Amino acid sequence: MKKKVLAALMAVALTALTACGATPAPAATGSGDAAAPAASESSGGGKKVAVAMPTQSSERWMHDGANMKAQLEELGYTVDLQYAEDDVQAQVSQIENMIAAGANCLVIAAIDSDALVNVEQQAKDAGIPVIAYDRLLMNTDAVSYYATFDNKGVGTKIGQYIVEHCGATKDNPQTIELFMGSPDDNNAHMLYAGLMEQIQPMLDEGSLICKSGQIDFEDNNTLRWDQQTAMKRCEDILTRYYADEDLDICACAYDGLSYGCMSALEGAGYTEANWPLITGQDAELMATKHIISGKQTMSIYKDTRLLASKCVTMVQAVLEGATPEINDTEQYNNGKIVVPSYLCEPVPVDKDNYKEVIIGGGYYTEEQLAE
Ligand code: BGC
Repeated sequence: MKKKVLAALMAVALTALTACGATPAPAATGSGDAAAPAASESSGGGKKVAVAMPTQSSERWMHDGANMKAQLEELGYTVDLQYAEDDVQAQVSQIENMIAAGANCLVIAAIDSDALVNVEQQAKDAGIPVIAYDRLLMNTDAVSYYATFDNKGVGTKIGQYIVEHCGATKDNPQTIELFMGSPDDNNAHMLYAGLMEQIQPMLDEGSLICKSGQIDFEDNNTLRWDQQTAMKRCEDILTRYYADEDLDICACAYDGLSYGCMSALEGAGYTEANWPLITGQDAELMATKHIISGKQTMSIYKDTRLLASKCVTMVQAVLEGATPEINDTEQYNNGKIVVPSYLCEPVPVDKDNYKEVIIGGGYYTEEQLAE
């Protein structure tokens, strides 16, 4: 019990650290990194690239911002990196200011991409190319390229992991609840589609049972991917539907949602003996520590250094007339155009492969994970 209290306190402390942005980022890429565009290709010549990021409260966006800044500066660009702390209007104002300040290119990871339509038009009118970073910019023809991960693939891999590891059968069914992402983020819809494709047959045959019935995305999404919202929804579900039976699987779309569910489960008295299979996304430092300790079962590792390097090639393309690598010209229809995209590969990680993938990949060191 003492151990549990200590673990909970540590989790709170780590969350606070993460929220302050104190978690060390993976080494920002510079020269010598295979993923980064070579400095010799550089002709940045002081051109200004403005990078609008959603929030510093989630570790991955800190990594993304740091990697983008380092790689762009390496090529001679001046970088204006700004975070909007999940405040939609603040992001609109930041982008307006970036345009007014003479940005030559805009890279945007949207909070609510529909809210950016006007400001994107302003950029287009001013002749400033726009690149979508990780999240698709919807309903605009002002966007030139999109660098992201295979977002449906993230859901597919979470779903496959559940199917392969939960051990549920028709004779021995398991309970599952879904904690999906933000409805204003196209990625959340794609992840959900990939996940459902995998688990729907088990729901249909009755080997997986969702006691709340909250299977539709409109019932299980989490506005702004917010940890507290997921915690409250999980508390409510546990009280209303799981008084007499354990919840066996929390299908969470992001590590922050997993932390919310963990708090709710601890509050409801779950212990190691009946702890559910919990999924996540981003392989945050804390989530990876949870994977090692067994508190979280798996996450999806997204190498933000690679994503930044692909995005930087797109910046070079629109500013210097180079050709970026594109590997998808079909999936990302934003309602106005199909945006030429590069999809990086998401990799599932659990206790069996985290050493090889995460430590071996130089994302976190053994020391960071042991702290
Ligand atoms: C990203 C995920 C991230 C989530 C919450 C999504 O758009 O693709 O990697 O976990 O936002 O920040």
